[in-house]
Amino acid sequence: MTAAGLRWSVAPTGLGYGADYYPEQWEKSTWLEDIELMHRAGVNYVSLGVFAWSWLEPEPGRFHFDTFDEIMDLLGAHDISVGLGTATSSPPAWLVCRHPEMRPVDDSGRVLEFGGRQSWCPSSPVYREFSLRLVEAVAEHYRDHPALALWHVSNELGCHNARCYCETSAVAFRRWLRNRYGTLDELNRAWATAFWSQRYTDWFEVQPPRLAPTFPNPTSQLDFARFSDDELRSQLLAERDLLRRITPGVPVTTNFMVGATKNMNYLAWGPDVDVVSNDHYLVEGLAEPEVELAMSADLTRGVARGRSWMLMEQSTSAVNWGTVNRAKRPGEMWRNSLSQVSRGAEVIAYFQWRASSAGAEKFHSAMVPHAGESTRVFEEVVAQGELLARLDQVIGSRSQNSVAFLVDYEAWWAGELDSHPSQNFRYRDEAMRWYAAFWRVGIGVDLVGVDADLSGYSLVIVPTLYLTTDATAAAVDRFVSVGGTALVTYFSGIVDESDHVRLGGYPGAFRDMLGIRTQEFLPLRPGQTVDLSDGSTASVWTEDCVATSAETVLSYASSQIAGRVAVSRNNHRHGHAWYVSCALGPETVDALVQRITAELGIQPVAHTSDGVEVVRRISRDNHTLTFVINHRDEERTVTGLGGMDVLTDETIGSPVVLRPGQTLVVRS
Ligand code: GAL
Repeated sequence: MTAAGLRWSVAPTGLGYGADYYPEQWEKSTWLEDIELMHRAGVNYVSLGVFAWSWLEPEPGRFHFDTFDEIMDLLGAHDISVGLGTATSSPPAWLVCRHPEMRPVDDSGRVLEFGGRQSWCPSSPVYREFSLRLVEAVAEHYRDHPALALWHVSNELGCHNARCYCETSAVAFRRWLRNRYGTLDELNRAWATAFWSQRYTDWFEVQPPRLAPTFPNPTSQLDFARFSDDELRSQLLAERDLLRRITPGVPVTTNFMVGATKNMNYLAWGPDVDVVSNDHYLVEGLAEPEVELAMSADLTRGVARGRSWMLMEQSTSAVNWGTVNRAKRPGEMWRNSLSQVSRGAEVIAYFQWRASSAGAEKFHSAMVPHAGESTRVFEEVVAQGELLARLDQVIGSRSQNSVAFLVDYEAWWAGELDSHPSQNFRYRDEAMRWYAAFWRVGIGVDLVGVDADLSGYSLVIVPTLYLTTDATAAAVDRFVSVGGTALVTYFSGIVDESDHVRLGGYPGAFRDMLGIRTQEFLPLRPGQTVDLSDGSTASVWTEDCVATSAETVLSYASSQIAGRVAVSRNNHRHGHAWYVSCALGPETVDALVQRITAELGIQPVAHTSDGVEVVRRISRDNHTLTFVINHRDEERTVTGLGGMDVLTDETIGSPVVLRPGQTLVVRS
């Protein structure tokens, strides 16, 4: 069976709603209460067995399925679809103790012991062998179970063990490098080993970039990031292939951490799975955490190549792993969920169903808190189930945006390496600086990889794409040449895929298209600003940039670069290419985004004011679904809407005054 949106072998009715479920932590009497509460909340999906290795295989080769058989039967009998874990994420003590060589090692040689989770080296053949034996046993055992809707491979691959520097990893790294470069001469060229006497004369001399007296070779760091990503990905592929062989009809997923980590190249991993899943936890300390949530969700849709996806984990309220863990405000959980749905999520799930009474996550919120069902959180959980049940028509809907953001993990890895002009530059922050302006004005964007087809877009934003391959530079140039508009921000187009500078003036890869030339970077200290010609200021970064053919839109008004280009616009063949050589303040970014989108005739979804999120999807029957979320504790007015609110069946006209925290899904 397949819902129109996500692939399932047993599709839940309507949008999926549920959680990670760990019944093995509880007595059987609790399981029955769980089922009753799940029904009350409208839960129709759970992830099961995610950390159950030591339960399923209590000693080497002896498998024990009785407990999970009972639970699977119980869930199946109550129409709750199961995403069954392959349980490989957290190897049992018997395995790690018998094979201590599989423990991960950090860059300074410290061994990461058993006792937490994910104590395995991604390159360990021992781990691979034992984990696949478990996957095979689980898949063979549950292959025909009627509750099995989906396979959930591992858990957040690379969450704690993304980079391992042990000897096994060193051998695997050398193998990977031989494969990439063929010869040592080629490696010496790519790694520029003429510098600091780093030349290699035998493969055994090549090491992972372990802690060194000073900066390890940057290209070796970049290659190690690529290698580590490949090693984890190969675990996913090995488990997936085994599952596909045993249960070809059951789709495979694994929960990504898009937005939260740069370590895994999820844009490349997306097509590896049948269903893209993501975990998202609010980032503390941000003035508007909902903007980061939206950006992560849009990037997840990019990872899913525009298709629907699952929100596998979020928190109902506080997490337990921050320094001070904030409980969510009333209604915040629902607003977070609705934003994810508006950006393509067809399952809203949580870590976890019932708050653990013991263990390292006992203070993490859950759908059923320690205080039980008579709680604000559980009441909101039930109310959310009722609202989600009204959103069937979201299934199979799609977004339709005219603006793309180019995202590239290799540029993220390389751009944030040490020994750069500034350590205060953060790739994600710069992308978010521009993303936030589109969020604020209510214009939807797609976050896509550098290999995406750009032809359907009017505007492409290229935030700080430090590493730019020839192919990417050519693709952006082609897009502009045929009439598109691109906006490139500072520290883009600087190096090639080997992290070698493109000479002749920055940004080498885009210089001609942009009609500018930068001869020197002038990054700013925290708190330092430079005045701009419109009275605003730049922070973080400035450049000694001159126009060669571009028109200067904004210039620097103070410091040694007064008069130089801060923002420029170039006519390039049939299109336009903008350059921004500094980090602009939000008002200036807003003004530029509004000017450029107005010039291109790109309209906001609706007109609103600060703190209101508006997102549009097109339903399968070609109706417009406009999601409106008031994130503020004050009333807000929105104009430009008209239709019926699917959440309440009320007719919505324009203008509409939103109550504090109110949400709408307007169908027209
Ligand atoms: C995720 C993880 C879950 C749980 C959760 C807590 O990273 O997948 O197992 O630990 O965080 O927020």
